[in-house]
Amino acid sequence: MRARTTALLGVGVLVLAAGCAGPQAGGPPGTGPQDASDETPLVGVAMPSVELERWVGDGENVSAQLTSLGFDVDMRYAEDDPATQVEQLRAMVDAGADALVVASVDGSALSDVLADAGAADIPVIAYDRLISGTDAVDYYASFDNHRVGVLQGTALLRGLGVVDAAGKPTGAAGPFAVELFAGSPDDNNATVFWDGAMSVLRPYLDSGVLTVPSGQVQREQGAIQGWAADLAGERMTSLLGPYRDGLRLDGVLSPYDGISQAILAATAELGYVPVVTGQDAELDAVRSVAAGEQYATVYKDTRQLAEVTVQMVQALLDGGEPEVNDTTSYDNGVKVVPAYLLAPQEVTEDSYTKVLVDSGYYTAQELR
Ligand code: GAL
Repeated sequence: MRARTTALLGVGVLVLAAGCAGPQAGGPPGTGPQDASDETPLVGVAMPSVELERWVGDGENVSAQLTSLGFDVDMRYAEDDPATQVEQLRAMVDAGADALVVASVDGSALSDVLADAGAADIPVIAYDRLISGTDAVDYYASFDNHRVGVLQGTALLRGLGVVDAAGKPTGAAGPFAVELFAGSPDDNNATVFWDGAMSVLRPYLDSGVLTVPSGQVQREQGAIQGWAADLAGERMTSLLGPYRDGLRLDGVLSPYDGISQAILAATAELGYVPVVTGQDAELDAVRSVAAGEQYATVYKDTRQLAEVTVQMVQALLDGGEPEVNDTTSYDNGVKVVPAYLLAPQEVTEDSYTKVLVDSGYYTAQELR
């Protein structure tokens, strides 16, 4: 179900590459050609980019599950460009989509097009990333993103020996030299991950057990636009000065596996492997964890996320109310978006077989 190397989609899924014009409706929203000729509900799925490995799996899971329930699916990847995503969503609205599932590139850039969706009574589900600044988002399907950050911060501390396996302080005095990376500034999740990680790291930064030799301790300073590996590699390389001169780089807080792998590549010249965290359990990262390189990742079962999302779509199209488990955490500036949040799980060299192979997320063979 979850091939990771191609973005091929199941039969019945309408695939449109970024930049291609979608089916254009002649009439007002809701009366597009697909609606007129076909009673099958059409679900528009907007995904950010095939360049970041996880979204390929997400897209496949969502579209396969929607298709198996009998929906038509129009899924598009936006090449990580907010304007492209707006165009794609507009085409979906114009084509008479019955519901939209949106993993945003820039969560604050969709207000106009989603206002049109709202005016056409098309329900909108924010997928994984919150959509902000609009009331035209009905539900949010995601993970407990604060907890993701807590897991990342805790993994860094444990990898350094500052806390033990149970999370209890060991009394190690350090000082341990670390550098801090954050996600894309246009993604609400990046702030939530950072705040979660800092909630556990802050006391140790304040007490001097952890030091940040670059002095770059603000999220804005560590932010990586678009979560892009090349930018992360460049930033890491630009910070290497003192470490090339002999200071030991003990650890790096990384919010996402693509960034983690770039950090490990950039630090390879140091001749040792710092403690590096991550997220998403991407294939290369898990192989790296299994090989004792990347210290940890955070697994978020995107099959479950797809399931929650598809259930939301179905409930809405049946005229019902989707199940939620959080009605307080995600204020998007205009409304608190009711959410269903799934539990993330830490993965290390000791646990990857149990968490990822036993659950069928990867086969043992894939991880070799
Ligand atoms: C975030 C997502 C993370 C990671 C990152 C880069 O929005 O929650 O799991 O995938 O984007 O794609």
